[in-house]
Amino acid sequence: MAVIFHENTQTFHIYNQYVSDILYIMQNGQIENLYYGRVINDKEDFSYLHEEVMRSQMSVCIPEPGLLSMHYVKQEYPVYGTGDYRSPALTIRQKNGSEIVDFKYESHEIFSGKRPLKGLPAVYTESGEEAETLEIKLHDSVINADLILSYTIFRDYPVIIRNARILHKGTAEIRLEGMMSASVEFPDMDYEMLQLSGAWGRERYIKTRKLEMGIQSIQSLCGTCSSAEQNPFLALKRPDTTEDAGEVFGFSLVYSGNFLAQVEVSTFDMTRVMIGIHEQGFSWELNCGEEFQTPEVVMVYSDKGLNGMSQTYHRLYRTRLMRGKWRDSARPILLNNWEATYFDFTEEKILQIAKKAKEVGVELFVLDDGWFGTRNDDYQGLGDWFVNTDKLPDGIAGLSRKIEEMGLKFGLWVELEMVNKNSDCYREHPDWLIGVPDRFESFARHQHVLDFSRPEVVDYIYDAITKILDESRISYIKWDMNRYMTEPFCRTEKPENQGKTMHKYILGVYDLYSRLTERYPEILFESCSSGGARFDPGLMYYTPQTWTSDDSDAGERQKIQYGTSLVYPIVSMGAHVSAVPNHQLFRKTPLSTRANVAYFGTFGYELDLNLLSEAEIEEVKEQICFMKKYRHLIQVEGDFYRIRSPFKGNETAWIVVSRDKTQAVAAFYQRLNKVNASWLRMNFKGLDEKMLYEVKWDDHILRAYGNELMYAGIPIDREALNKKGGDFASILYTLEAVQQ
Ligand code: GLA
Repeated sequence: MAVIFHENTQTFHIYNQYVSDILYIMQNGQIENLYYGRVINDKEDFSYLHEEVMRSQMSVCIPEPGLLSMHYVKQEYPVYGTGDYRSPALTIRQKNGSEIVDFKYESHEIFSGKRPLKGLPAVYTESGEEAETLEIKLHDSVINADLILSYTIFRDYPVIIRNARILHKGTAEIRLEGMMSASVEFPDMDYEMLQLSGAWGRERYIKTRKLEMGIQSIQSLCGTCSSAEQNPFLALKRPDTTEDAGEVFGFSLVYSGNFLAQVEVSTFDMTRVMIGIHEQGFSWELNCGEEFQTPEVVMVYSDKGLNGMSQTYHRLYRTRLMRGKWRDSARPILLNNWEATYFDFTEEKILQIAKKAKEVGVELFVLDDGWFGTRNDDYQGLGDWFVNTDKLPDGIAGLSRKIEEMGLKFGLWVELEMVNKNSDCYREHPDWLIGVPDRFESFARHQHVLDFSRPEVVDYIYDAITKILDESRISYIKWDMNRYMTEPFCRTEKPENQGKTMHKYILGVYDLYSRLTERYPEILFESCSSGGARFDPGLMYYTPQTWTSDDSDAGERQKIQYGTSLVYPIVSMGAHVSAVPNHQLFRKTPLSTRANVAYFGTFGYELDLNLLSEAEIEEVKEQICFMKKYRHLIQVEGDFYRIRSPFKGNETAWIVVSRDKTQAVAAFYQRLNKVNASWLRMNFKGLDEKMLYEVKWDDHILRAYGNELMYAGIPIDREALNKKGGDFASILYTLEAVQQ
């Protein structure tokens, strides 16, 4: 790993054993990208990669006889109005109304490790040797501001992390109207753009399209979150790239609010990727001495296909984005009462459900929505963080003690950013809502957004919730957030600062997360947002797991978990076995399949176990034993490989393999059963070709070499699928290396 500055040729080479990024200080002082991709040897001179040619209608930005025209060079941080007619990464409006800037190279700094970002989540290093950072300082002498472009390269990963920061040193106020985290350019357009798109109940489906000239983009304007509709991620892959081979470039934004991820192809076939905070509703005044920091973007290069890219994100995010006690630990097997009771519970009912959970081997009981204020339905109570003693006479303190006395840990649901108008909180502080005073305040699920851009609101919520947490025995928090923002407006801010509201809201959310996770380092936090609308790397910095979707149907979950695994480690995916008929789809799936899907996540139950038959309870006990045996491999130690895509056919398959390749757990799932079906094989991945494995599934045991299992595969046992009910049946395989 190295960051090298070749003074003679004014070139930076950022590289490790996998990837190279080569930057060049152009004649006009701006930075060009000469190359980004698979590692190439370092040398003094890459100047031949800078291309200039006389073209009709070109605008030249240096004195004659020059040919440098910004429309035709691959830039590191493009701006508007000086001859580049593509979209800019930075827009600064000045006092005189001009948006023209000219940031020229001034100096640079290279240091080991990586610095934290103020107020923002970010990937971190644990020692200086893990990474090296280059910061290039550019300066605009007219407005007197510095632009700092930051690049961190990791020693062990094909990863470069970028962000940008602006420091205003001049006296005249300037206004940021848009500032991307990074802009990356490629010399050709032979790529497909891959994105994770969806909606409530069907989050993060994989969508791919061929790049065309012009702009293609995804975005969130939801304000409170990165959204269920689009995830803050895109990848460019070559058309012939598969799961296991070929090139992919991934871009993942560590942010939970409004974002834009855009690919623009010029009519000269150049491809520009930009990602960062969306400029809609964003306008940030900077006064003398003030700074603005963008979120960071984690760029992964893979020449080992999509699985290669995903495994890099998984390892990096699991070990250098997640933090705290739970980072390297297998997660407790939980039971959540939401689908068991919804709002309709008493302490007695909760204790009955918990008792049965304890009997089967569950470790953590989670009390979901409905325990506070007058929260007997979703019309009321949000904002009132005191216990409803009609339902829970001894409070959360009493209930958590009783649950712990049973031998279970206790977890609690909260939704701290929201308020119902029917609540004491709203009646006392009607002006705490996000919303424009003289306009209708749109609502969603009968609730409104508290203005977390205001520190006094965050402080109030912090005080209210820490009171409950301090007096109770809480081991887990499910932090929900169930609506998107409307009428974004802060009632206490000046008109010129309204464009800060949505970003400041997210900073307020991060602030509360920081304070609570620091104060309660033992608590396992799980984030949630109407299911999976906030499944992003920003939140992963605070919460090592996220509720993946409210859709708990095992068939649908295969798609959701498969898509989510493109970027996010499977240990981050909240996954539960729920009742049948499923509450979202009214579909019946075998109990074995519901567990076989949930094993590849955090694993838990979301139903009243008292309603299961004795045979089913015995099956649940076996499932819990299985997960206790294999969860360290699945959640912490293993590498996850996608084998068959639910987006491409009737079957899904995947595998987790230990680092030393001696152990693996794999699963095969089908949607509809087939009569007189074609032959089909399970071809494993990630095994050691020469190792001999003992493979077990249902009541079969087979000894086979890794190469046999990967290339010849095991025929799918149709009879076994029929016996398990046919539709939505599945097979779970365990593999252990044995002496040859
Ligand atoms: C959201 C969550 C659910 C549940 C309910 C409670 O929809 O995604 O899991 O917690 O809220 O109101």
